[in-house]
Amino acid sequence: MLQATSIIYVLLLVNFSEAAEYGITGGKVAKPHSRPYMASLQIQGHHVCGGMLIRKDYVLTAAHCKDCYQDITVVLGAHNISKKEGSQQRINVKKYHVHPQFEANQFEYDIMLLKVTSIYTICPH
Ligand SMILES: *[C@@H]1O[C@H](CO)[C@@H](O)[C@H](O)[C@H]1NC(C)=O
Repeated sequence: MLQATSIIYVLLLVNFSEAAEYGITGGKVAKPHSRPYMASLQIQGHHVCGGMLIRKDYVLTAAHCKDCYQDITVVLGAHNISKKEGSQQRINVKKYHVHPQFEANQFEYDIMLLKVTSIYTICPH
């Protein structure tokens, strides 16, 4: 099982809601596939949130990214999410674990774990 302490460490390092709210400022284009754990969470082919693969079957993201009516697809292996790239893997979510104390429109406990269906393998490019 996932250790609660490791999730808390990641929480301290990354403020997901802030990143989602304001976008990225002053960033540089990363070397393609140098961050294989970074995920794009998409609904009907549109990027809604970023996420991070923290185990081969778990993606960490923010709770506010969950849509009550539509499923999220996890896209891994992308360099440019605006393109259809052969390296991209689309993975379905098996289970949504929203933090039990999260409430919509609140900033506290804005964290969610997605258990994904297929095991993601990082293939060399
Ligand atoms: C990503 O792809 C789109 C569409 O082809 C292009 O307009 C954009 O410049 C690309 N972005 C990067 C960072 O390569």
